[in-house]
Amino acid sequence: MTTSFQSGIIAEASSDALFITLNVNRSEIDKIKAVLASTPTIIDEIKQEFPDAELHTSIGISHQIWNTLDSKQPSQLAAFPHIKGKEVEITPTDVDLVLHIRSSRHDATYQLGNRLYSAFGSSVSLVDEVSCFKYKDNRDLTGFVDGTENPEGEQRKSVALVGDEDPDFKNGSYFNLMRFVHNLDKWEKQDIKVQEDTYGRTKKDNQEYASADKSVHAHTKRTSLKDKDGRSMEILRHSMPFASLKERGLMFASYSKSPVTFNLMLESMVKGDQDGNTDHLMKYTTATTGQAFFVPAIDWFTSL
Ligand code: HEM
Repeated sequence: MTTSFQSGIIAEASSDALFITLNVNRSEIDKIKAVLASTPTIIDEIKQEFPDAELHTSIGISHQIWNTLDSKQPSQLAAFPHIKGKEVEITPTDVDLVLHIRSSRHDATYQLGNRLYSAFGSSVSLVDEVSCFKYKDNRDLTGFVDGTENPEGEQRKSVALVGDEDPDFKNGSYFNLMRFVHNLDKWEKQDIKVQEDTYGRTKKDNQEYASADKSVHAHTKRTSLKDKDGRSMEILRHSMPFASLKERGLMFASYSKSPVTFNLMLESMVKGDQDGNTDHLMKYTTATTGQAFFVPAIDWFTSL
């Protein structure tokens, strides 16, 4: 069976995004199924209303609710990992559903978010809604370009989509979402050189440091992992900044054909390498959420 993936997994970076997290009212599972089955139609309708908005969506389901919707389960679907390092502890805050909506127009993103949320009605409760924006040339609010080393072209699919290893869930993707709140007062007090060393990249012109010049604590060092055959392990990131006058940070969002890759990267950041060298970016930001989902192919929804 050919199944098509949800377009929000692969599409290029957008200028506007909305992350909606929901918990399901367990007494209304039939309603949840019916609404999930209708989401491809709702998305198409709003796309027709905003044909130039490059609207993309992905809807994810967590391990908490999966078994009440489907008797078969994606082979690696599990809770977000609990990771305790010397300085930082990452605590899972799993929820039942996520709607990741993105486009080039805030009005289109809002309209689709609102339509999907209203369709669920009382069958869900809203956990959080975070609206994100493109900052300058795709920079995080720490001022560094984010997403540069993302896979490109066809490689985006081979990195992010489940293949024949789990045929029932082919073209789905494992999605990880974390809300990071930055301490920008502390960050902005650091010399540019300290900031650059923290990432292992230059700030203004976004050049990667030579490998020999990268600190073991650099974010790009801690997240550049190799598998047992020496191949680079990759994820596809769609992180974007959020901000109010009170709180600023990053919604970290990544897709992968296996959640193991993301889990290993996060461990390498928080627990460090074999000598306990951790990611110094974590001195300037705090993860307030950590959630894991599976984003099934579109046919899964229509067959509910
Ligand atoms: C690279 C920002 C969290 C995985 C980068 C880069 C920036 C950045 C600016 C360099 C440019 C590029 O995108 O290639 C951030 C911020 C984070 C954060 C501000 C949180 C506050 C994470 C997390 C993971 C992760 C939680 C995975 C567990 C990666 C990977 C790369 C990267 C795989 C590419 C490394 C390379 O190949 O050079 N990040 N990141 N990041 N980040 Fe993050």
